[in-house]
Amino acid sequence: MTQTLTLRRPDDWHLHLRDGAMLAAVAPHSAGFGRAIIMPNLVPPVVTGAQAAAYRDRILAALPEGAPLQPQMTLYLTDATDPADVVAAFKAGIIRAVKLYPAGATTNSDSGVTDMDRVRPVLEAMAEHGITMCVHGEVTDPAVDIFDREAVFIDTVLDPIRRKVPGLRVVMEHITTSDGVDYARSGGDDLAATITTHHLVINRNAILAGGIRPHYYCLPVAKRESHRLALRQAATSGEGRFFLGTDSAPHPDTAKLQACGCAGCFTAPNTMSILAQAFQDDNALDRLEAFTSLNGAAFYRMAPSDDRITLVRLDTPAPYPATISAGGEDVTVFDPGFPLYWHLEDV
Ligand code: NCD
Ligand code: ZN
Repeated sequence: MTQTLTLRRPDDWHLHLRDGAMLAAVAPHSAGFGRAIIMPNLVPPVVTGAQAAAYRDRILAALPEGAPLQPQMTLYLTDATDPADVVAAFKAGIIRAVKLYPAGATTNSDSGVTDMDRVRPVLEAMAEHGITMCVHGEVTDPAVDIFDREAVFIDTVLDPIRRKVPGLRVVMEHITTSDGVDYARSGGDDLAATITTHHLVINRNAILAGGIRPHYYCLPVAKRESHRLALRQAATSGEGRFFLGTDSAPHPDTAKLQACGCAGCFTAPNTMSILAQAFQDDNALDRLEAFTSLNGAAFYRMAPSDDRITLVRLDTPAPYPATISAGGEDVTVFDPGFPLYWHLEDV
């Protein structure tokens, strides 16, 4: 008998859609999600409400007609962000959240925050108005080992901010460690964490063992297996504080396959197939909907989607493209390293 799985339409609470030819190529692959929080790390970054509104229009124009996706825009927090602009953009319904990148932490983060005390007035205004801060949680101190940067960020930056600005709603984006899981669990209903598809299925061996594999390199970098298992347990637990943010982050292969290659995994085309397999492997298919379609909406104080998607389990592996083409360049699709039997029916 054919196995099918019907879920409320999933949301993606952390997505990079880029701009221009890349946007045109990748947007259709996320079009079947309900809501997606759109990352603002364009070049130059999205820092004003007007820029966010214009970017939203470009995204809508890149989506196939009738696509369900509703882009939820974010502003890129800089040392110069004006609290009044953030509040005005939020009240006007232009933005859903503000993104904190510590300066230099990841792709296109040079304009990020250099000192948390400089943005205290913005954070206080956000706490007052219930505006969520999405946090890239890694320190940038070159003296800190890259595999420790998330844990050190939690202790030295995130926890102090949350104490100084009580009530600030925080999403720890793309957590990669058991430290991140534990800290997310230590908070009240003003704290949550997104988990990516790829961090549920790879550990750092995928990047480094038996040869270097740039398509598995992303930031925060995948950690050791015990951390991956902690993420799997959190994602499949059904706990409301954990939800999907794919962090699908496409780069042309020419930018990935370099002596100094870009960070980012492009998971949009096969995310739901990978997640269904992972949750099935953990006997947690009944909790997939909480992770992909319920928990994030509840945190962002939105209703869950009313419509449904269907995944069908095929007898033979479901094909997906190894690469897509963007502006004449190949972009490699994330390979989870196992066959995908779950196929997402067309929206
Ligand atoms: C993201 C990108 O390419 O924009 N890369 C990544 O490895 N995740 C930036 C980010 O989210 O850190
Ligand atoms: Zn990201």
